[in-house]
Amino acid sequence: MTSTVFIGIGQLFTADPECAEIEDAALVAEGGLVRWIGRSADAPAADERIDVEGRAVIPGFVDSHAHLVFAGDRTAEFAARMAGEPYTAGGIAATVAATRRAGVPRLVTTTARLVAEMLMQGTTTVEIKSGYGLTVTTERESLEIAAQFTPETTFLGAHVVPPGAGADDYVRLVSGPMLEACAPFAKWVDVFCERGAFDEDQSRHVLTQGIKAGLAPRVHANQLGPGPGVRLACELGAASADHCTHLTDGDVAALAGSGVVATLLPGAEFSTRSPYPDARRLLDAGVTVALATDCNPGSSFTSSMPFCVALAVREMRMTPREAMWAATAGGARALRRTDVGTLRVGARADLVVLDAPSYVHLAYRPGVPLVAQVWRGGRQVV
Ligand code: NIG
Ligand code: FE
Repeated sequence: MTSTVFIGIGQLFTADPECAEIEDAALVAEGGLVRWIGRSADAPAADERIDVEGRAVIPGFVDSHAHLVFAGDRTAEFAARMAGEPYTAGGIAATVAATRRAGVPRLVTTTARLVAEMLMQGTTTVEIKSGYGLTVTTERESLEIAAQFTPETTFLGAHVVPPGAGADDYVRLVSGPMLEACAPFAKWVDVFCERGAFDEDQSRHVLTQGIKAGLAPRVHANQLGPGPGVRLACELGAASADHCTHLTDGDVAALAGSGVVATLLPGAEFSTRSPYPDARRLLDAGVTVALATDCNPGSSFTSSMPFCVALAVREMRMTPREAMWAATAGGARALRRTDVGTLRVGARADLVVLDAPSYVHLAYRPGVPLVAQVWRGGRQVV
């Protein structure tokens, strides 16, 4: 078993509640796992020695919400929005048409490109949703593609009712034959519970059928306006309620009492020019907060977790430490993973060496490519 010792770590951000940051640290990886963490001066010998020369090391980012299986883009829609048009879920149909036309080999290529782009920016764990096929065959194919890249695959047949379909018939399809075809390739079931997509009863039906098929629920909730999504996520014991932009006090209290992670996706507010979610209100209420990209061609075409950290700090008043935790350990919580998102003995050796002395530089130097090296399972991948 090859071992690697990283020495000269100016600042090690572990995201471990016991000991979040260590100055002048070292870390040993062996057999793909973290074996030892301590002071650089006390570092044991190993087969390979990497001197990071005072740079900061953080856990690989855990991007717990991304829609990567799609074709085409929506440049004109974005440009129109920046000229004053509002975002609506209606644009999803354009991506559905392009995705259906593309065919599997092209979708594999476009998904691979986005996963590689994420890795270059320090993301070592990513969740990937279906939701741009919306037929039994294309949703199954989307999940088979997603499963080539991650175990965190999410069935989002209930993204919107596709053009030409009736809502009731489509909900029956999603929670029946489509679910049956997709469940073998999915870990999670998700619903876009929103005015213009699926209402409370439809969402509950799809999620409960998904649970019966062995999938665990997560919900697109309260993104575009107030609604039942967050409370439904809490009622069903979802791993995560995602977006959480428009919340009542009751929604916040429900999240705080439930253990459901609130996953905030500031790339979507940036790209739709909408008000950011109130992260401070959630954190102050004791809600567990995760940050993710929502990478998709409509509402948030960014694959960059560093960008989301910078937005969370600047626009959502999260402290750099809170934002870093949410982008690593928080994402892991949202995926119910204990092996990634933190650097502690026994965790997977997924780590990022930054070209900076502190992780704070991710927000302090926005837009600068600070990812110098990426290691996943103890092997250098960037
Ligand atoms: O998470 N909210 C629903 N789905 C995506 C947007 C999809 C699109 O516009 O293509 C989201 O923001
Ligand atoms: Fe999304």
